[in-house]
Amino acid sequence: MKSITITTPNKVSKILIGERLQNLSEYIPQGKTIIVTDENIMKYYSDVLPKFPTIIMGTGEKHKTLETLDFIAEKLVEQEADRTTFIVGIGGGIVCDVTGFAASVFMRGLRFGFVSTTLLSQVDASVGGKNGVNFRRYKNMLGVFNQPEFVICDLTMLKTLEMNEFLAGFAEIVKAGAIKSRSLFEYLENNVDAARNANEEVLENLVYESVRIKADIVEADEREKGERRKLNFGHTFAHAFENMADILHGEAVSMGMVVASRLSTSLGLLSKAEADRIKGLLSQLQLPVNPIISIQQALIPMKKDKKREGDSIHMVLLKQLGEAVIVKVTYKNLEGAVYDLC
Ligand SMILES: NC(=O)c1ccc[n+]([C@@H]2O[C@H](COP(=O)([O-])OP(=O)(O)OC[C@H]3O[C@@H](n4cnc5c(N)ncnc54)[C@H](O)[C@@H]3O)[C@@H](O)[C@H]2O)c1
Ligand SMILES: [Zn+2]
Repeated sequence: MKSITITTPNKVSKILIGERLQNLSEYIPQGKTIIVTDENIMKYYSDVLPKFPTIIMGTGEKHKTLETLDFIAEKLVEQEADRTTFIVGIGGGIVCDVTGFAASVFMRGLRFGFVSTTLLSQVDASVGGKNGVNFRRYKNMLGVFNQPEFVICDLTMLKTLEMNEFLAGFAEIVKAGAIKSRSLFEYLENNVDAARNANEEVLENLVYESVRIKADIVEADEREKGERRKLNFGHTFAHAFENMADILHGEAVSMGMVVASRLSTSLGLLSKAEADRIKGLLSQLQLPVNPIISIQQALIPMKKDKKREGDSIHMVLLKQLGEAVIVKVTYKNLEGAVYDLC
């Protein structure tokens, strides 16, 4: 097992990579505990969950809503949760995002931790303290920053994931490498078959390195004033794709990174050869690399993106593998560049 500690002004958060669900009780403080999880985790792991009251939410992005928050709050009231109750979210990014939000606002904030059960949530979603729900068409529009006390990343649980869900997680690993670590990117390039076949040693290294990158960024800039924006590489386009089609977050991020790399090349920042390597690695991971809708169409919802500022948008672009830059692009220039790409 490897561990990483994230220290932010209000919290110390421990990420435990390679720890097992079976050891969860060791991390939970004495007193009342309530689990929030989803139907799939119950299907595979109900026998090994500790015997605490359990709230079971539905699966899928359509459940990352205020209605689910309402449902969880109702169950917490029924269970007589009070300010000393500890909440554990067990699941992927959706369970963790919603649980973290519910725990943060219920009675103005309860203590909480996660068992992160998808590759995507282990390398990204459950690390860094962003919690929240979607609002109408807008992704993650309502939420809070608040670090969980611990995140257990049980690598053995990845074996029960659907293949497309497993592969989608690699998009965030490619992202971490592309923005911050050429060595992580190249390690994945060199071990792509083992990674795809869920070799545990390779997965442990990949999850550890991705979490380390995210932890460094979050420690420097928890509230996304500057450096943390780099984690949004590919995401501005990805959010637009997600709004328009029923695809996985990681799949949308894969397509979004291909577009953002091409944009980086067309603005004279990234070499075409390196943009091609990103696309090549994503293809080897069986992730989609061709946008499902026209990039012009993707620009429409982008104008409502949270990162918008007046008539421009902060875009994360690449200078080279392992080095991202944040560039303020006006919509006019963006539309021009996008027009050139099509
Ligand atoms: N908070 C953040 O910083 C952050 C970062 C990246 C992504 N996200 C969010 O994360 C969400 C996506 O997360 P996700 O990809 O983990 O999706 P998810 O939570 O929907 O999980 C994917 C599917 O796998 C099932 N599942 C989970 N663990 C399993 C296991 N071990 N075995 C079998 N099935 C399992 C789930 O029930 C679900 O059907 C998006 O809403 C995205 O916005 C948040
Ligand atoms: Zn993401």
